[in-house]
Amino acid sequence: MAGGIGITPFMSQISDLNRLGYAYELHYAYRSADQAAFRDQLKKLCGDKVHFYVDDEGQRINFTELLIQQPLGSHVYVCGPNAMVNSLLLMAKEMGWPENALHSEKFLAPATGEPFIVSLKLSETEVVVPSEMSMLEALEEAGIDAPYLCRGGACGRCELEVVDCDGELIHQDVYLSDAEKISANKIMPCVSRAHCSRMVVNL
Ligand code: FES
Repeated sequence: MAGGIGITPFMSQISDLNRLGYAYELHYAYRSADQAAFRDQLKKLCGDKVHFYVDDEGQRINFTELLIQQPLGSHVYVCGPNAMVNSLLLMAKEMGWPENALHSEKFLAPATGEPFIVSLKLSETEVVVPSEMSMLEALEEAGIDAPYLCRGGACGRCELEVVDCDGELIHQDVYLSDAEKISANKIMPCVSRAHCSRMVVNL
């Protein structure tokens, strides 16, 4: 079961499951149709094994029903927001699922840290990123139309080119390779920030 960008770790697992011919079903919940990362790809990969639930349309995964339906020996993998993961695990334990059949991962939250200034080269604007906000949130708050999709450091849609930074980038995403992170010329503003006083980006 996946919630939001919690779908990311399943993408590689699904290819393996298909290759090995294992039985599985994937239940994927997301906030709205325009935030359904990988939806088309999943339809192709999983066919009728994938089920979509759109929060905005009042659709919810029925954990109890799904857990009851599974044959003995099944395993549950869940990745998503804390509340979703915790409630599924609690329910499964109460229903007697063994601990070793339950696998979970909670997804990335934006890092908080010291405030800094982002200078937008193309828009010729400066935005202060406060300590409690992600860089993406600060840009949005300033009325900048910054791209995004997952808001969890996984899809790469929000990538910005870093033209200059007088400190150190703090990469929190799972999208950039180690080499790209070391090169310090790209950043995922949805989860990453910097330990600096000023960063210049190509936006
Ligand atoms: S919005 Fe997906 S990595 Fe930032």
